[in-house]
Amino acid sequence: MPNPKLFLIANWKLHFSLKEATKWLDEFAKQQVLAEDVEVVICPSFPLLFPLFEMVERKKITIKLGAQNVSRFEEGTYTGEVGIRQLQEWVQYIIVGHSERRIHFKESDKEVVEKIRLCLAGNLTPIVCVSELEQVEYLAKAQLQTERLIVAYEPLCAISSGQLESPDLSESPEQADFFSQGIKALLGENVRVLYGGSVRSKNISGFLKCESLSGFLVGGASLDVNEFGKIVKIAGKV
Ligand code: PGA
Repeated sequence: MPNPKLFLIANWKLHFSLKEATKWLDEFAKQQVLAEDVEVVICPSFPLLFPLFEMVERKKITIKLGAQNVSRFEEGTYTGEVGIRQLQEWVQYIIVGHSERRIHFKESDKEVVEKIRLCLAGNLTPIVCVSELEQVEYLAKAQLQTERLIVAYEPLCAISSGQLESPDLSESPEQADFFSQGIKALLGENVRVLYGGSVRSKNISGFLKCESLSGFLVGGASLDVNEFGKIVKIAGKV
């Protein structure tokens, strides 16, 4: 599948034990909602990557795996870090610079760019999260191969608390489209832009009409396998 029309990235954040994750994947596979031109990428915590990779291979489930972060160091005396070479065998995507990492772990734009460069050098696709135009301007100055990036626009106020029942904080599709066009104006037309922030089965149809968007980064709603299945099904019909 060289050019998927849409990307649906499930960001599980700090959720799921191995047992819960394998149950989720089993149930997801049974739903048979995967469509040819929708690339579904599951991003679990590090320790789940290898067992899920084995399960995906064994059961021939046509999803991809992604990591939620990578060390800015390639190798060395960095206790607790997980490096690009340790991820390369199991993932094709890496989320970089999520706002929760920028806020709770003080990740700077400089570090984000270092991580992007490592991903690109390692032939992995970085999913670079941005919430403000200044962050995009920083990326533009770094002169990256932007056609190889996926940029996820996630306004801070739209990110949910992770509960499906919580209020829908999503931005309007028009606002998302406007920001997405701003990203393309700065980084080039070929950059793929996703929207993230309270995406659910109830509101995805509006966003699917935005031509500047190449998909979605889904947090809370991806934890409920039936809800995520619905999202994939709707996206596959477009
Ligand atoms: P949300 O999270 O879908 O729960 O709002 C999105 C994200 O933080 O990536």
